[in-house]
Amino acid sequence: MKLRVLSGIQPTADSFHLGNWLGALRQWVRLQDTHDAFYCIVDQHAITGNYDPKLLADRTLSAFAQLLALGLDPQKSTIFVQSHVPEHSQLQWVLSCLTGFGEASRMTQFKDKSQKDGAERATVGLFTYPILQAADILIYRANQVPVGEDQKQHLELTRDLAQRFNTTYGETLVPPETLVLSEGSKVLDLTNPSAKMSKSAPAGCVFLLDDEPAVTKKFMSAVTDSGSAIEFDPQNKAGVANLLTILASVSGRGVSDWVNEFSGKGYGELKKAVAQAVTQQVTEPTRTKANELLKDRGQLIKLLNDGAVKARSVAGETLNNVYQKVGFLK
Ligand code: TRP
Repeated sequence: MKLRVLSGIQPTADSFHLGNWLGALRQWVRLQDTHDAFYCIVDQHAITGNYDPKLLADRTLSAFAQLLALGLDPQKSTIFVQSHVPEHSQLQWVLSCLTGFGEASRMTQFKDKSQKDGAERATVGLFTYPILQAADILIYRANQVPVGEDQKQHLELTRDLAQRFNTTYGETLVPPETLVLSEGSKVLDLTNPSAKMSKSAPAGCVFLLDDEPAVTKKFMSAVTDSGSAIEFDPQNKAGVANLLTILASVSGRGVSDWVNEFSGKGYGELKKAVAQAVTQQVTEPTRTKANELLKDRGQLIKLLNDGAVKARSVAGETLNNVYQKVGFLK
């Protein structure tokens, strides 16, 4: 029996970016060969903050097209949209009745995000976001959850809630393990290499749907430093180290190999090489394939419906068990 993994990604931008790909989506593609993989486009999480309702459906479909273009295969994995599987929010209600108000208040992501927008503007949906995330995972009885470092606290809450449910009502839910995605693949903002690459700083962010001139322009204007030697020194030469990390990840050749190759050469040459590797290996193939897939929306929607049917057959079983244990009248 294969272990089951579940992960989720929000459809909050027109395009995923290089950080999403190297930090998470690349691992998703690998995991579908070794695991029983469930991948969820979390549109319900995407409405917890400011968002444009006119764009959400298109972004959800585009997110799916990009996942397929990157190599996720609906024959191997169950790929679906969160709002198509109502069992997530049904389980969330039960879990929220097991979550302490203080416990939820200690979630650092909520504290950060609500501080940014002002506590008055933060919604209850943002506050209960981690409980919905726990439901996303527990409804499939997933064994492992591949996520970035920043999601560790949400995963601890997920495990605590599973154990608390089991202690209160009897063995039902599976406390999942966290598969922390490797730190080495953290991609930094090209114009500000002290921050993570993020869609909210588009100048330093390479989107997977960017065309070749846009990708090249972004890499050629990457911030390096006033020196000229190409060395891997993340502390003192963060910009250069970031370019080397990207080049190594995309090419499959180690950083030290590339450092040797570029000895005596200038930053301009390194930038050109990274831009070329990224366009050839990642952005051009993804963009071409995703745009081709998006020409047939009907087919994409059909695949997502199939995914939702598969997902609901597992989610429905868990929810039945949960409702019975909780004591709801059948
Ligand atoms: N909160 C996750 C993030 O921001 C997204 C997410 C929602 C998720 N539900 C999930 C990740 C379930 C893993 C499992 O990255």
